[in-house]
Amino acid sequence: MKRIRKAIIPAAGLGTRFLPATKATPKEMLPVVDTPAIQYIVEEAAKSGIEDIVIISGRGKRAIEDHFDKSYELEDVLLKHNKISELEEIKGISNMANIYYVRQKEARGLGHAIHCAKTFIGNEPFAVLLGDDIVYNEGKPCLKQLIDCYDEYNTSVLGVQTVEAKDVNKYGIVNGIHIEDRVYKVKGLVEKPPVEESPSNVAILGRYIITPQIFKILEETKPGKGGEIQLTDALLKLIDEEAMYAYDFEGTRYDVGDKLGFLKATVEYALRREDLRDGFIEYLNTLKK
Ligand code: UTP
Repeated sequence: MKRIRKAIIPAAGLGTRFLPATKATPKEMLPVVDTPAIQYIVEEAAKSGIEDIVIISGRGKRAIEDHFDKSYELEDVLLKHNKISELEEIKGISNMANIYYVRQKEARGLGHAIHCAKTFIGNEPFAVLLGDDIVYNEGKPCLKQLIDCYDEYNTSVLGVQTVEAKDVNKYGIVNGIHIEDRVYKVKGLVEKPPVEESPSNVAILGRYIITPQIFKILEETKPGKGGEIQLTDALLKLIDEEAMYAYDFEGTRYDVGDKLGFLKATVEYALRREDLRDGFIEYLNTLKK
């Protein structure tokens, strides 16, 4: 059985739901408290045992590359001012994992973005973590939960959670059979179905383990919903060739590419921070009056 060593973080989307901030700033760089969204995701991948990460980048996304690069001037200034803990933190960011970049020339959809990493991945199963989906879990990171499920079933595993019925039209939805605690066998998939046509409330939420057979399928996948090459459409074809499972992961998931999702993440992450919590609660209480 092949180990999951590589991950793709697609971050080349246009972020139209978060304009005007995303006109010149990648949405993956929006800070949740003081840390860019994509850094939480890289940390999750590294803690889950991923060795090599490829970020799918595009026009206007240079800030992501700079963020994970070494910053000689900044390190120099922090050292001169004896700001040692800040220095260690900054150095830690560039040492988190081996990070590589592939450019998606045009935002043609998530399926197309994944296909851009074909050469980097080669012939092994890999992980996908969406660049604007953060999952908070104090215990086992979300991706590690999926990797453990992959180790049991040895085939593709989709990260899912149950969403409210009114929200199914925002996600890829799984038609599955519940086979054991937290695990579904996937029978069908549909991208953003209308509420009344949805096969279930089980939604794919930004984490995947996928076998390399997907690349051949993506080459033949035509643009689907929204005129984009949809990963969900390609995964649906993959079910004809091999078994696929979905794992209902533990953790709180935030869509930080959505304004409300971003606000929820900001408030909840701030409340988890010892250095901010008390002052922030005091401030929030003044708003209730
Ligand atoms: P989204 O659908 O959330 O991204 O894709 P988007 O298209 O940027 O968002 P809106 O709807 O316009 O606001 C999920 C992830 O896939 C990446 C995005 O960067 C995001 O991290 N993506 C999407 C790509 O890398 N390339 C694409 O062509 C589309």
